[in-house]
Amino acid sequence: MLVLGIDTSCDDTSVAVYRADTGRVLSNVVSSQYEFHAPFGGVVPEVAARRHAEQIDAVFNAALKEAGVEPKELNLVATTNRPGLLPALLVGLTFGKGLSFRLGIPFKAVHHIEAHLLSPFIGREPPFPFIGLVVSGGHTVIVVAEKLGKYKVVGKTLDDAVGEAYDKVAKLLSLGYPGGPAIDRLYRSYRGELLKLPKPKVKGLDFSFSGIKTATRRLFEQGAPAVQVAASFQETAVDYLVEKLKKAVKEVGVKRVAVAGGVSANSLLRERLLTLKEEKGIELHLAPLEFTSDNGAMVAYTGYLRFLLEGADPLTVGAQARSPIDEG
Ligand SMILES: Nc1ncnc2c1ncn2[C@@H]1O[C@H](COP(=O)(O)OP(=O)(O)OP(=O)(O)O)[C@@H](O)[C@H]1O
Ligand SMILES: [Mg+2]
Repeated sequence: MLVLGIDTSCDDTSVAVYRADTGRVLSNVVSSQYEFHAPFGGVVPEVAARRHAEQIDAVFNAALKEAGVEPKELNLVATTNRPGLLPALLVGLTFGKGLSFRLGIPFKAVHHIEAHLLSPFIGREPPFPFIGLVVSGGHTVIVVAEKLGKYKVVGKTLDDAVGEAYDKVAKLLSLGYPGGPAIDRLYRSYRGELLKLPKPKVKGLDFSFSGIKTATRRLFEQGAPAVQVAASFQETAVDYLVEKLKKAVKEVGVKRVAVAGGVSANSLLRERLLTLKEEKGIELHLAPLEFTSDNGAMVAYTGYLRFLLEGADPLTVGAQARSPIDEG
């Protein structure tokens, strides 16, 4: 069975072809829009939508070509319809539905955060139950995944997402957009002392990143060099994520952990998670690097699993800007 996966939820136009019977991703083409949003220091929804509309045909054709697949060979179209930037989501959703109609094949609408959550397992059965940490540009959540489609949010950020905090700190330090990779690179190159930043005292498994962000700004305004500020921010943010995850493992009592989303590409986070795995005997599943940021492969994979579980969606299904993962 050949599944087409489409994602236009934010600032990446992505289309992938997934062969479900072998669990192989045949192609995963991503066209990023960074340079279009860079002047604004963040993603502008209307700019994103226009760029998706300009790019989607070419990205679709490139994905089919790379996979060596003809449109008529496709068996299912899966497309992100929630959550995300509404004008951006609508481009992929309309394209996906049109394709499904034209080819006479079923359509499946996919929850973007569920797709991130399951991305460490692309190509095989997800091993439920597990604790999922999704760290991305718009989300920071700890989820108990009991079975496919049954997720309980046990922790979430009360303000900024960690990726958003990365991007804002990078903007402050004039490191460009997106900020995560730039700060990560600076961290790796830095050999000096790390400055202490206070970790927010938020109860339970919830997070807050606004305090870390403000403390980071203060350091910079007090004259600390950008590289030291960036490295100190990363050390604190990653420590904080790992601390909460450790707490979740203890409280929930599940020793299988999956970590995904754009920030899961972070080299320090991956390093610390591997240490946690060794120390606590955790079964750790990290999203493969190529599937950490937005990609069509995770959408095709998740759409396929949900299609098997509950069948296709009608072409009347709409897009939703907001949609917590535990509310459908
Ligand atoms: N190496 C890295 N270290 C830290 N953060 C990173 C790294 N690489 C990417 N990021 C961050 O990941 C984020 C993008 O991730 P992703 O594409 O999953 O998010 P999104 O799709 O914008 O948001 P969401 O999935 O919540 O809708 C950006 O904030 C970016 O700075
Ligand atoms: Mg995303």
